[in-house]
Amino acid sequence: MSPTATIDGSLRQAAGLLQRCSDSPRLDAEVLLAKVLSRPRSALVAHADAPLDAAAAKQFRHLIDERRRGVPVAYLTGTREFWSLPLNVTPAVLVPRPETEDLVELVLERLRPDAPVRVLDLGTGSGAIALALASERPLASITAVDLSAAALGVAAAGSRERRVALRFVVRARGRRALRRHRRESPVCRRGRSRARGAEIRAGAGAVPG
Ligand SMILES: C[S@@+](CC[C@H](N)C(=O)[O-])C[C@H]1O[C@@H](n2cnc3c(N)ncnc32)[C@H](O)[C@@H]1O
Repeated sequence: MSPTATIDGSLRQAAGLLQRCSDSPRLDAEVLLAKVLSRPRSALVAHADAPLDAAAAKQFRHLIDERRRGVPVAYLTGTREFWSLPLNVTPAVLVPRPETEDLVELVLERLRPDAPVRVLDLGTGSGAIALALASERPLASITAVDLSAAALGVAAAGSRERRVALRFVVRARGRRALRRHRRESPVCRRGRSRARGAEIRAGAGAVPG
């Protein structure tokens, strides 16, 4: 990327470089340049003819090189939108997938907004599911569990920054967390196998609190 190139010229060049390694080369280039300039993508269009300064051009080129090495855009920007929440993402967690929003929808259909339900998100990763559910069901008490302390750090930071309350973030092995969840939940004690099936299928088990 030439230090004297315009924003649009840099984007076109970067998109060309990403052609072989991305299904969305122009979009990737725009997202990464917007990150470098700390501007929304729309500003790139509005200032297409503005020059890109040398420092920004160097930073942009570095991100494009990383992308060409196969690093996901979300790891390079440190964020991924999920359920309209800008989630924190680092290599300690998997990038939340768009299909996982379907799971959130399914769970929400089963969670009454006026009931103080308890939810266990087992293997929370970035906290995508837990944070999305918490944003829609403020009365729910949500426990997000992961084996990885680094992943929990990402989920907890997301919870603080987004001001979406996760009631607990506990580092525990999955089976132990499920046992504790069941012990503390009357419905699970009464209908253990049914509840277990629901929990495992959804990745998030919900019971009345
Ligand atoms: C594929 S990621 C899914 C993350 C998130 N639920 C999502 O849909 O984006 C699975 C996560 O489960 C965690 N995990 C795997 N086995 C676990 C276990 N036995 N107990 C707790 N967490 C576990 C991993 O550390 C990882 O963060």
